[in-house]
Amino acid sequence: MAAATHSSKKSIVILGGSYGGMSIAHYVLKHAIPVLPEKDSYQVVLISSSSQAMCRPACPRALISDDMFPQEKLFVSIPKQFSQYSEGSFRFIHGTATAVDHENRIVSVSSATGQTEALEFHALVVATGASTPSPLLGLNRDEKFLRDAWTEFRKGLATVKSIVIAGGGPAGIETAGELGEYLNGRAGMLSSKLENPKVSITVVTAGPNILPALRPALAAKAEQYLAKVGVIVVKDTRVKSVDPPNAGADIEHLTTKAAVTLSDGKTLQTDIFIPATGMTPNTSFLAKDLLNAHNQVETNPSTLRVDKAGPRIYAIGDASSYARPAVHNLLAAVPTLGANIKRDLLLASGKMESEVGEEKVFKEDKRETQMVPIGKSKGVGAAMGWRLPSWMVWMIKGRDYWLWTTGGLWSGKQWAKEA
Ligand SMILES: Cc1cc2nc3c(=O)[nH]c(=O)nc-3n(C[C@H](O)[C@H](O)[C@H](O)COP(=O)(O)OP(=O)(O)OC[C@H]3O[C@@H](n4cnc5c(N)ncnc54)[C@H](O)[C@@H]3O)c2cc1C
Ligand SMILES: *[C@@H]1O[C@H](CO)[C@@H](O)[C@H](O)[C@H]1NC(C)=O
Repeated sequence: MAAATHSSKKSIVILGGSYGGMSIAHYVLKHAIPVLPEKDSYQVVLISSSSQAMCRPACPRALISDDMFPQEKLFVSIPKQFSQYSEGSFRFIHGTATAVDHENRIVSVSSATGQTEALEFHALVVATGASTPSPLLGLNRDEKFLRDAWTEFRKGLATVKSIVIAGGGPAGIETAGELGEYLNGRAGMLSSKLENPKVSITVVTAGPNILPALRPALAAKAEQYLAKVGVIVVKDTRVKSVDPPNAGADIEHLTTKAAVTLSDGKTLQTDIFIPATGMTPNTSFLAKDLLNAHNQVETNPSTLRVDKAGPRIYAIGDASSYARPAVHNLLAAVPTLGANIKRDLLLASGKMESEVGEEKVFKEDKRETQMVPIGKSKGVGAAMGWRLPSWMVWMIKGRDYWLWTTGGLWSGKQWAKEA
């Protein structure tokens, strides 16, 4: 590893500029650094492969057309959101973390412009999230790559006659519902399903029900809504192979005709294949012994510290093992990670245990919570164990896929108060 550049400041390095990384960066700048002795000697360094943050849950609808959402709200510049802090307290690096040496406390970065840099860190937060097998559903690389993928995909939509989606989780189901309504329209009130849809859309799921995080009755309701926009669900069945194998996965093969072979022996011929199964945590730059069997950073679920890695190293979000990967869990954990990093920084600056606050403890709320819009007017969901009516799922999520919440998140307003 290259010799680290010596900064005159102590760096609090945050990897990943999305829900986790942006939130923690604001939190540390607002609540931790101002109370540290010699506060000008610290700098928050946010490193992200994408220079823009985006409302990821909106992807299933946003991928159809730029007219679906105001684009300046859907994507925001990361550095702009931090221009409110004093000069020198924040630095953004548009680049990808390629290695973390947690023993010598150095992170290597390959910048978007091609330079490499090694930075010493005083504290480190891993918030690099997870990638989807389809490049249509998040910042697998950067905003340009995501937009290019959407552009490619939209070209194919104009003439498509069949779509197969692998995966019955929320990403697959929401994508099916949006495409169904957009391409086929919606059956009238009195019909239980859309007859002879213009485009045949099939979701294949390995489970006995779609939406496994919700009770079966809600999954069944979702299937009824899908039928109304011409989507068929095939359950208890796996996609065994796809020919060509990179169909739907490479940007060059997003609208390549494919043969999808299922575990029951059938083969579906399709114009478009969308893999919506499984997420891969972006953690390959870390030592293997810091990861669990799912390649998530092994994180103390109470404190958000990565205990094995050494002092002042934390992880949050989809890259971490702390909780089920979802925005609501992540946001609930930010004040815990924030309070504990503040406490650890105070102790490292020479404060006594008796002078710093109590350690904060996170506890995941495991009650049934998930909202799944099916097209622009319907949806199923539950919150804190309570079943929500379709209109409420529409009001909270389906209307704009959470875009009403991201303004305050990206700007840091959401973290103006400490807890
Ligand atoms: C289609 C879809 C719909 C969803 N809908 C919902 C929903 O309705 N409600 C909900 O609660 N959750 C939803 N989720 C899950 C939610 O999007 C994630 O939990 C959330 O995005 C996790 O945020 P994060 O900060 O951990 O990382 P991510 O949002 O995954 O972002 C990680 C960031 O880190 C960057 N990065 C990756 N590797 C590196 C590296 N080595 N160096 C530097 N930067 C790097 C990436 O470019 C990216 O910008 C959905 C997910 C998908 C895919
Ligand atoms: C995240 O990991 C995936 C799969 O390992 C990879 O394709 C992708 O480029 C990574 N993303 C970033 C931003 O490094």
